[in-house]
This record gives sequence, structure tokens and C-alpha cells, in this order.
Amino acid sequence: MRKAPASTEAGAFACRLWCILPIGDYSVNAQLTLDDLALLPPPARRAAINADGNKMLLQDKAAHDWYRFVLSYPPHLVRDYVSRFGLNGSHQVLDPFSGTGTTLVECKKLGIPSIGTEANPMAHLAGLTKVDWCPDPCGLVTHAERVAGTALTQLQADRVSENPVLCLEDKQAYPLRRLPPECEPLLLSNSISPLPLHKTLVLLDALHQHHDERYARHELLALAKVLVFRVSNLKFGPEVGVGSVKVDAPVITEWLTAVRAIADDLPALQSLPQTPATVHHADARQLRYLFDPQSIDAVITSPPYPNEKDYTRTTRLESVLLGFVRSKADLQALKRGLLRSNTRGIYKGDDDDTWVAEHSEIQGIAAAIEKRRIELGKTSGFERLYARVTKLYFGGMARHLAEIRPLLRPNARLAYVVGDQMSYLRVMIRTGQLLADIAERLGYEIIGIDLFRTRLATATGEQLREEVVVLRWPGERL
Ligand SMILES: C[S@@+](CC[C@H](N)C(=O)[O-])C[C@H]1O[C@@H](n2cnc3c(N)ncnc32)[C@H](O)[C@@H]1O
Repeated sequence: MRKAPASTEAGAFACRLWCILPIGDYSVNAQLTLDDLALLPPPARRAAINADGNKMLLQDKAAHDWYRFVLSYPPHLVRDYVSRFGLNGSHQVLDPFSGTGTTLVECKKLGIPSIGTEANPMAHLAGLTKVDWCPDPCGLVTHAERVAGTALTQLQADRVSENPVLCLEDKQAYPLRRLPPECEPLLLSNSISPLPLHKTLVLLDALHQHHDERYARHELLALAKVLVFRVSNLKFGPEVGVGSVKVDAPVITEWLTAVRAIADDLPALQSLPQTPATVHHADARQLRYLFDPQSIDAVITSPPYPNEKDYTRTTRLESVLLGFVRSKADLQALKRGLLRSNTRGIYKGDDDDTWVAEHSEIQGIAAAIEKRRIELGKTSGFERLYARVTKLYFGGMARHLAEIRPLLRPNARLAYVVGDQMSYLRVMIRTGQLLADIAERLGYEIIGIDLFRTRLATATGEQLREEVVVLRWPGERL
């Protein structure tokens, strides 16, 4: 495999990095070329590269902040590729792994039509809602206040106080509500305490009782957000886990605050020119029939990485509480629709690996992982699958890249944000380089690979690169 260059297209693609630069008491996100960086003293250079260029700027929060997860990339990254690809309102952008909809929201703000696909129903709801700026803000708040009133009355009847301090003095007259038995084991243990869970279930009942199609999605998304960040015991670092357990937390009032924040954003968003944006609940490896041939001018996206993370855990709490995942069978169906990027999501009959059967470097990496496993005497079922998941991951990406070719207009530009990984017995997987190589074999032209940021692998001290693979689709060769 030849090493792909840092992207340089007609001078516009000098390799640039997102950096955070301290300016007085403030810091700003800035794009620097390698030449700019060389001018900084070494400590400032290191700090600039590794400071979190992933942070969202304050001025970007409208709609983006309605719900995000740790996997989201920042809106300014989308703006950068929109500008480098020279996109405007006459173009159409696709995000095939749209997650919480960062690409779609940013394109809509910029007046560029966009479409997405997302296989996780919770993330799909987030994307769909964040590009829906139609609800009347006053109507939304009035409706939410009515729902909150019903929920608070019910809590009073249950002798459960919304205010956690008061709740300690309360004596509950009724047993607390719980999830159905088949749902409980789906949650990370202790991810939500019994009292906040009771309040959440009461609020969900009130939402159901007052269901209004105009506001339902925005109200649910606000609940998903407060569940994760205010109500639950979850912590992200970046893996999702359970942190210190809070016995109680306000739910209804937090939710109302989140709904009001959405309503506050709406007037400014509604004043922007109307631009179409939508997301399909679909698999990025099978989307050919969703869109017209040669209708896509650009792709800006971030697929999963081969890193042993179970992506369904990140959204598990809100997926279960909002009813997207109610049983083990639902969870399995969800995982089957995802790109294979961890051993917990591999099934009999998976065959995406056939797409890279001839790719000697990927086969070599899989063989190195298996050799290391045997040398280390690792025998668990998961460890035995490390080599296989690596092949399935790149095979799935090959399948996706092949699938979208008929949808792309000749000369379409594509940006894929991916990260190097060493999760499988510390064998280095240069994801960006391999993806670029797969794309080239499928007829894409590699424009370059930009460094987004680096991350230190704590176990090995290696620098892992998070990169943007930039491609061009020249059109079908006759
Ligand atoms: C890294 S995240 C994308 C984050 C997104 N850029 C954002 O800002 O929120 C990758 C997403 O791909 C989704 N995904 C995984 N496999 C998929 C597939 N086969 N088809 C569609 N989406 C998939 C995951 O559910 C996840 O939401």
C-alpha cells in the first residue's frame, strides 16, 4: 500500500490541522498548516495539536446542542470541508453515518441541502429532530408546561418529590415504577437510580397522554439529553461507564429547561433560508435505492472505527427508556444493522470480509493479530474474534464505498473522519491509510489524508492519528 499524501489539491489542500490556540484568557479553534505549526515553540505546538479541536464553539450551539454524543465531531470540521469542496445551495451533501446529525445541521445552517442515513434509531431521532426547525416555539413551551404539570401532579400523588432534597424527607406511599423485566438487564447496572427512573417513567406517561405530533420528537430529544447528562449516573471518558451514583435528581424541571432551550434556538433558526435536510433510518452498506443516481455532490462523514467499542452502549440508557430497544432481540437487530467494529456485534453469516479477501495488507494485519493472540495465550471468545472483526470492518467499509458510487456525481468530493487503532492486542491499524487504499481500488481518487488530531495510546505511548481521508469520485470509467 502506498502512503497517501497529506491532501494538496491545486494548492487548496495544504495539510492543515485543527488546533486550539490560547489568546490571552481565551482559546480559539484555528486551522494551521504544518508551516504555521513549525513557527510555534515545541510545548505550544504539542499543546495546540492535542488540545481538543473536537470542542464545539459557543456560537455553534443552536440545534447542535439539542443532543450530542461522544462520537460526534465538531461543526467547524464540517464547515471546513464545505468550504474546501466549494459547496453551495445548488449541491447536495450525504452523511451516510450521520450519528446525531452534525453534518446535516451544519449544512442546513449554511443553506446546503443534505441527506443522511443512520442505523441506530436513537441517533436517527436526534438527527431528524435537529434538522426540524418547524415547531412554534411558544406552542412547544406551552405544551411542555402542560405535560410537566401532569407529571408533577402524578409525582405528588405518588409522594415523590421532584426536588431531591425534599425527597429524602418523604415517605413513599407507593412502590416506585420500574422498567418491564425484559428491559432492565439491557441497561448498564446502576446507570440510573430508582427515584430518577420513577420520575422519568411518570414523565414518559405524561408525554404519551398529551401526545402532540408537532412537538413529540423535540420533547423526546430533550428528555434523552437530560437523561444522559443530568439524571443518570453515566460518565464518558470517552468510554461510557457508571460514575458516582446519585440517589436522586430532578427530572421534570431539568427536562422543561431543555425544552425551553430548544424553543429559544428556534426563532433564529427559522429566520434562516429554508433548506431541505433529512435522515433515513438505514444501513450505509445498503442505501443505493434510497437516493437518485448521481444526486450527491459531496460526502462528509465519520464512520465507526475498528476499536472494540460497542457503539450501542453509548446510547443504551436513552434507547431503552424511549422505547427503541425493549428486548435482547431488539438489541441484536440494532447491532446487525451496524458496521462490524467490535466483537460484541459479530454474527454467524456475517460476510462483509469477502470484500477484502484479496487485500493483502488487511489480511496481514488480521494474521498479525491472530499470531499475537496465540503467542500471548489469549483464548476468550472475544479475543478469538479480533482478527475476524478487523476484516469485517474494512470489508463493510468497502461495501459501503462500492454501494454509494452510483449515487455520486462525477467529480464528487468525500471526507471520511477515521482514527488509527491499537485495540486488538496492540497491533497498529492505520485506519485512514487502509481506507484510502480500499477506496482507490474501488475507483476513487485519493486527494489526501489530513490530520485532524492525535491521541496518545496510554498503554503503548504511541501517537494515534485521527484523520480525514479526502477522496474524489471521477465517475464510472467506461
Ligand atoms: C462516529 S459516529 C458519527 C457521529 C456523527 N458524525 C456526529 O457528529 O454525531 C458513527 C455513527 O455511525 C452509525 N453506524 C454504524 N454502522 C452504520 C451503518 N451500517 N449504517 C448507518 N449508520 C451506521 C453509528 O450508529 C454512529 O451513530
